[in-house]
Amino acid sequence: MSDHTDERPRDARDHTDDADRSVRPDGGTAAGADDVTLDPWGSSTVADYRKLFEQFGIEEFDEVLPDVPTPHYLMRRGVIFGHREYRRVLEAMANDDPAAVLSGFMPTGDPHIGHKLVFDEIIWHQRQGLDAYALIADLEAHAARGLSWAEIDEHARDYLLSLLALGFDPEEGELYRQSENRPLQDLAFELGVKANYSELQAIYGFDGETDVSHMQSVVTQMADICYPQLDEPKPTVIPVGPDQDPHVRLSRDLASRMRFFGVTEAYASFEVDEAERAVVANAYEALAERAADHDDGTVRCLDAAVLVEEGIEAVDFDDRPRMDQYEAGDSGSDDPEARAAAKLANAGMEPLRPRVRFLDRNATPEAFAALVEAVDGEKRVFDEHVDAFDLTHDEAESLAQDVEVDNGGYGFVPPSSIYHRFMTGLTGGKMSSSIPASHISLLDDPAEGYDKVKSATTGGRETAELQRELGGEADDCPVYELYAYLLAQDDDDLTREVYEECVGGERLCGGCKEQAAELMREFLEDHQEKRAEAEELLDSLDVELESSRR
Ligand code: TRP
Ligand code: SF4
Repeated sequence: MSDHTDERPRDARDHTDDADRSVRPDGGTAAGADDVTLDPWGSSTVADYRKLFEQFGIEEFDEVLPDVPTPHYLMRRGVIFGHREYRRVLEAMANDDPAAVLSGFMPTGDPHIGHKLVFDEIIWHQRQGLDAYALIADLEAHAARGLSWAEIDEHARDYLLSLLALGFDPEEGELYRQSENRPLQDLAFELGVKANYSELQAIYGFDGETDVSHMQSVVTQMADICYPQLDEPKPTVIPVGPDQDPHVRLSRDLASRMRFFGVTEAYASFEVDEAERAVVANAYEALAERAADHDDGTVRCLDAAVLVEEGIEAVDFDDRPRMDQYEAGDSGSDDPEARAAAKLANAGMEPLRPRVRFLDRNATPEAFAALVEAVDGEKRVFDEHVDAFDLTHDEAESLAQDVEVDNGGYGFVPPSSIYHRFMTGLTGGKMSSSIPASHISLLDDPAEGYDKVKSATTGGRETAELQRELGGEADDCPVYELYAYLLAQDDDDLTREVYEECVGGERLCGGCKEQAAELMREFLEDHQEKRAEAEELLDSLDVELESSRR
């Protein structure tokens, strides 16, 4: 992820009657919030996290939270607010099936407390038994940010030390630098075959001035995200800030474009889009029972065309219209009903029957033949697809994946993701690595960390008197956020206490900041001690710390 450069949302809700709110620094927005822009290389601002659900289809983390066995505090407190298909990973976790976690870091500056969120997410998943990967996005830092290899080396070391100090187990997990990982670069090349310039332009706003290496860093990140699946397909979760969501979406697309077979549902030999399929499915449902009572026993496409065009009363199995005289629908229409009717009429006396369809996307002839062979039960084989009448969609999906893997394909599972909120800067506004006072680096001197917290902006009132009367605005307070995101660690009681005392007017900012500053000093002391201890471990690892590039 990039800098945690964002304004935190304001909470427009009333918290007094919502006990759970006390540990959750999340919420709604002030009226008139900006539109959401997600730019991996810009400074993304997310004024309203809820818009990410509507606009981009990120799902709410709350919806899966009850199924997380022992959720991390960042999950419990709503700091991790969104996901894409995280359920896939939870299922693998529950069944002890292979699964992985991966995230990457651009070594453009010191690792700071925003990065710590991601370190913690990786480590938590590793402790849940997932294969864990963390990478240094040095190709990206060089191409997209123009850093020299010497600068990159220095920062890379610092990221890795903090990750190890926080508990990443390098024996069980894998650390790598993009620039030194040849299989990764080979995968990037293959994925690049499936993406073109217009698409990158649409997603990232690239133009004629964008340099080629920057584009290459995009396919490299796509490869990072699929990298845990090089040996075998497995659900993979990518913990990132929402600014990285464009990358996640593209990687999910590319992963599926690489697949040998697509699996869809169909009712007859012709292809339908999703809206048309719904029309055909309804027609089939309505006619199947009636056909069962009839000698013919078969629903024909023509019957469904009549139903769609003229209604169910017009369907008469004994007196079908003459196919060569019956014209229905309009294949060029905007209306899916009209298009479906046209296709159905055109298929005429062909039986209408539900089936799963395997579409040949990238299969070798051998793989296609192997699939045909592997489909149990009744099937029909066409040039570029196979229809199976006795398989469920799930059975078909897993068969397609098995055949692909047996025949040399990757069988990629679309990667999942989880998203955390950006932290507010200590000086208010955005937390930015270019404004030292706005963030706390994991390398900051503990005394300096203490001082930064002491001078942080708060959600306090103008006077102590007002604070006692009205309570502080914990939801708008970077100091409260420090407790919730970092300082209270696993202690929900402390987080709740700070929140409730604050909004209840019992807590004043001076003492509150003193307590937070002290915790910050302790955290930095402890972390830096662990970093020093991790030096030796880092040097013993098989990760290149001095780039041979220049
Ligand atoms: N682009 C990310 C950033 O700006 C870094 C990154 C590279 C990454 N590869 C990744 C993040 C794979 C998650 C997964 O920080
Ligand atoms: Fe923030 Fe603490 Fe002041 Fe409340 S009392 S506004 S949490 S600094």
